[in-house]
Amino acid sequence: MLYPEQVIEEVRLRNDIIEVVSGYVKLERKGRSYWGLCPFHSEKTPSFHVEPNKQFFYCFGCNKGGSVIQFIMNIENLEFVDALKLLADRAGIALPESEDPKERERARRRKKIIELNRLAARFFFSSLAGDNGLEARNYLYRRGLSDKTIRKFGLGYSPAGWDELTRMLLENKYPESLLLESGLSVRSKSGELIDRFRGRIMFPIFNIRGNIIGFGGRVLDGSMPKYMNSPDTPVYNKSRELYGLNYARTSSSKRLLIVEGYMDVISLHQAGIDFAVASLGTALTKMQGWILKKYSEEVIIAYDSDAAGRAATLRGLEILEEAGCNVRVLIMPEGKDPDEYVRNNGPEKFKNLIDRAISLLDYKIMVRRNMHNLDTIEDKLKLLNGIADILSEHDNPIERELYAKDYAQKYGISYESLQEEVNKRMSRKNRAGGYSASVRDRRGRTLAAQISEDSDIRYSELEHMLLVILCQENRFFNLISENYGLESYKDKKAGEIARKLYRKLEENNSCVLAELVSDMDPGSASYLVRLSQTKGEIKEPEKAIRQILNKLAILKLEDQQKQTIERIKNEQDGEVRQQLGLEFSIRAERIAELKKMI
Ligand code: CTP
Ligand code: MN
Repeated sequence: MLYPEQVIEEVRLRNDIIEVVSGYVKLERKGRSYWGLCPFHSEKTPSFHVEPNKQFFYCFGCNKGGSVIQFIMNIENLEFVDALKLLADRAGIALPESEDPKERERARRRKKIIELNRLAARFFFSSLAGDNGLEARNYLYRRGLSDKTIRKFGLGYSPAGWDELTRMLLENKYPESLLLESGLSVRSKSGELIDRFRGRIMFPIFNIRGNIIGFGGRVLDGSMPKYMNSPDTPVYNKSRELYGLNYARTSSSKRLLIVEGYMDVISLHQAGIDFAVASLGTALTKMQGWILKKYSEEVIIAYDSDAAGRAATLRGLEILEEAGCNVRVLIMPEGKDPDEYVRNNGPEKFKNLIDRAISLLDYKIMVRRNMHNLDTIEDKLKLLNGIADILSEHDNPIERELYAKDYAQKYGISYESLQEEVNKRMSRKNRAGGYSASVRDRRGRTLAAQISEDSDIRYSELEHMLLVILCQENRFFNLISENYGLESYKDKKAGEIARKLYRKLEENNSCVLAELVSDMDPGSASYLVRLSQTKGEIKEPEKAIRQILNKLAILKLEDQQKQTIERIKNEQDGEVRQQLGLEFSIRAERIAELKKMI
C-alpha cells in the first residue's frame, strides 16, 4: 500500500459520501438512505442508493458498490491513488508525499516522459514548417487541412533521417533509458538509439489535461505499415485514451461521436463537428466505454461501413451498452469514412447522417436483414428466426412488442409468428434459468465445469459472507476467529481480506465495511457490498454466523469424504480399506448432525 491505512481512513471519513455523490447524482432521501439514478448504467427508475450511516453506495441494477473512494474511482475513472488524491484535496487534507520511493520515482519519470513528448512535438511541428516538411505540408493541404487545424492538433513531421530527434534529446542531457521508455527512440540492431518515427506525419495524442502522452505517425504514401504508434508507456495506455477528447469534452453538444481514425477526428472538428473522438483503430474497451459515458449523454458510433467496420461496430455496441451509454449507430454510405464524407459533402450533410442514426436494436436487425435476400420463403424464415433471436435478448417488453410490429411490417413477415417465436425463446430462457447443459455462463464455462467449481464458489461465498457479517458485528470477532482462524480460509481473496480485518479488529477493536473496502479494487468492493445488501439487515447475527460456520465445516468434511472415497478405490490392503470405511461412516454421521443444526 502506498499510503498508510490511517491516511486512507482519514480521507474516507472527511469526505461524507452523501455530499460527494450529490455532486454527481441527484439524490432523494427515502427513510434511512438516499436514492437516485445510477451514474454507472442507464436507467429510468432509481436503483442506486447511498447509505449515510454505513457510508457506502450500492446499485441494485448494476451491482456496483463501495465506499466514497470507489465511487470516485468509478465515476472519475481514476486509479486508487488518484482518487485518494482528489478526495484529499477536496477535504483539504495534505497527503504525505508518497512514502514509497518506487512510487515517487515513477511519478518523476512520468513527468519527464511528458516533458520529452512536448519537446518532440515541438520538434515535429517545426520540422513540418521547415524545408524538409514541404512534402508533408502539401500532403496535409491536399487532404483539406488548414494551417489553423494543423496548429490546433499540433500536427508535425518526423524527418526521414535516422536519429534527428534522438540526437537532439541526447544533446539536451536526457538519458537513453528515458528515451526508450517514452517510446520515441528504439535501439537499432547495431546497438545505437534511433528514432521510432521517421518520415511520417505526426499526430500527438493528448490526454484530458492537454498533456502529450504519445504519438501516431502516418506514412505519406501507400507504404506499410500505414501507422506507427507509441507503445504503451508509463503515461500512455491506448485502451484508456480517446483521441480528440481533450477538445470534444468542451463541446456544447452533449453527444460524443466515435470514429476510427485520427484523420476522421481532425476533419470533423475542422468542419465544426467538435464532439468527435477516435478509438484509434483498436476495439473499444470497457474503460473507453466508461469514459464516453462520463462525458456524454449520448454516444453515436460512426465506423466504416465495410465488413470489418460492421463487426467492430457490433462489438463496440456491446461494450458501450454495458458501460451504460445511450447509443445510436450512424450509417456511413458504402465505402466511405467520416473524413471523406464530410470533406466531399460538407458538415450539413454529415449532420443529417447524425440525425438519422439508428438505435442499437435497429442496427442489429439491419445487419441481420442484410444477410438474407428475402426472395424465398426459406430466407424469410431465417430472417424471422434471426429477428426473434435478437428481440428475445432485448429486456424491455414494451419495446419488444413495438419493434416486433414494426419489423414484421417492414420485412413482410407475420407479426403473430414473430411474436410466437420470441415468446418461445423467452420461456425457454426462463426455464433454463441460465443452466442448460449446453449453455455456457458468462465466463464461458459449461455446466460440468460450473458444477466442479461449485464447491470452490461455495467456500468463496460463505467466507466472504462471514467477513461481511463480522464487519457489521465486530463483537463476534472471538466467536469467528476461534472457529475459523486465518489458516482456515480456502478462498485466496477471502483469506487476504480476513487477514486485514482480523488485524484491524485486534488492533483497534473496530472496522466497518466501508473502511474495509476502501483500498480495494472497485470489483472486489462491489462484491462485498453486494453481499451485505442481498442478505439485508441480519436480524440474528449470531445465528447467522453459526450457520455459516456450520456450512463451512460441512463443506470441509465433504471434501475429506471425497478424498477418502478416492483412497478406498485405490487401496489394495483390505484392513486399511476397512479402516477408511469406518472413518467415512463416522464423518458421514458428523455431517448429518451438522446438517440438522442448519
Ligand atoms: N491504425 C493503426 N495502425 C494501422 C492502421 C490503422 O494504428 N496500421 C489506426 C490509426 O489510429 C488510424 C485508425 O486505426 O487512425 C483508422 O485506420 P484507417 O481508417 O486505416 O486510417 P485513417 O485514419 O482513416 O487514415 P487515412 O484516412 O489517412 O488513410
Ligand atoms: Mn481515413
